[in-house]
Amino acid sequence: MAKTYGVGIMGAGNISAAYLRLAPLFKGLEVRAVADIIPAAAQKRAEEFGVVAQTPDALLKNSELDVIVNLTIPSTHYSVSMDIVSAGKHAYSEKPFVLSLEEGTALKKAAAERNLKVGSAPDTFLGGAHQQARQIIDSGQLGKIMSGTTHVMSRGMEHWHPNPDFFFQVGAGPILDLGPYYVTELIHLLGPVRRLSAFTNMARTEREVTAEGPYKGSFVKVGTPTTIHGVLEFVSGAIVTIGASWDVAAHGHHNIELYGTDGSIFVPDPNFFGGEITTADIAGERSTVTPWDHPFGVANQDLDKPTPRANYRTAGLADMMASIDGGYAARCGLDVALHAVDVMTSLLKAGESGQVLTLSTTCERPMALSPADAQALLK
Ligand SMILES: NC(=O)c1ccc[n+]([C@@H]2O[C@H](COP(=O)([O-])OP(=O)(O)OC[C@H]3O[C@@H](n4cnc5c(N)ncnc54)[C@H](O)[C@@H]3O)[C@@H](O)[C@H]2O)c1
Repeated sequence: MAKTYGVGIMGAGNISAAYLRLAPLFKGLEVRAVADIIPAAAQKRAEEFGVVAQTPDALLKNSELDVIVNLTIPSTHYSVSMDIVSAGKHAYSEKPFVLSLEEGTALKKAAAERNLKVGSAPDTFLGGAHQQARQIIDSGQLGKIMSGTTHVMSRGMEHWHPNPDFFFQVGAGPILDLGPYYVTELIHLLGPVRRLSAFTNMARTEREVTAEGPYKGSFVKVGTPTTIHGVLEFVSGAIVTIGASWDVAAHGHHNIELYGTDGSIFVPDPNFFGGEITTADIAGERSTVTPWDHPFGVANQDLDKPTPRANYRTAGLADMMASIDGGYAARCGLDVALHAVDVMTSLLKAGESGQVLTLSTTCERPMALSPADAQALLK
């Protein structure tokens, strides 16, 4: 019988509820404890989901845990994951798992020395729609993908988030906060990036918080670019423009469009597991793709709303733990996450320097997750 791994959660904020709710869908995972620097936050989640609340230190020492999921904020991801690995446990982090190549390389070394796994969200590219997009690209029906565009643009975060300060500081901004979904999806579909260039700016140096809450009416100082336009050249030869902005009221771009020698594909939002794919043939004739029968495309959330969603967050963790006995490279493994961080931080550096940068990291394309592979992860 396959092993059951004891899972601990570090960081009992917003997203921890999704992990606690969805982890029980997967084989081999048993969430046993949750911790937070704010004890009341850990207590609240523990009561909601019937697990034990601990201090962060006690969680690290808990001998019933094999892996700890790092759901703290980006600025502490590196130090917390390092503590987890130093405590002899596997680590799986929310994105971005580190904020620099130096941090990622140090974590990789520490994990390798202890024969431990480090993995990172996003795992949304394991969703039914994204795996089907990959299957279409890999089938060759679009020919060779030569170029494309990707856009993640909105008017910002201060109109909905009650405390949006961190979004506008170094380590966040649209490219490090939302970019991980898009960059990881592109690596999944096209492979690693070789070179890139970018220009950046910020529409405002201060932003007014208009969301309801204690900070309404106050101003946030902006410490990182809020508009980034870059060009990525993939090792495959494909060239993809990327636009990430929180200075855009409205736009007409599709999330991801990829152009092959024999056709095009319009890929849905990689922030979600499901969505609609459109393809076009060489004559430009478009057709909506019938969703294939993939377990991670089945709607399981907001079933009473007009747009029910598929949400299988934690799939990346389940796959990482299954990869230990399976002897394969975890799909949401460290090398892919580190390459994505390299792409995102290099876009910001290229924006500052105006230079074309050659990346110092690379990775294997994560393995596809077929419907049967996905089913094997589920209970
Ligand atoms: N909220 C979302 O919808 C969402 C979605 C996808 C990904 N994420 C990612 O998940 C991460 C967490 O986001 P969130 O929205 O849950 O944030 P949050 O601020 O709601 O929660 C973070 C929690 O971590 C705790 N914490 C901070 N430092 C800690 C430390 N050193 N040790 C233990 N606990 C610590 C905080 O007290 C807080 O309770 C971020 O990286 C974010 O990008 C969030």
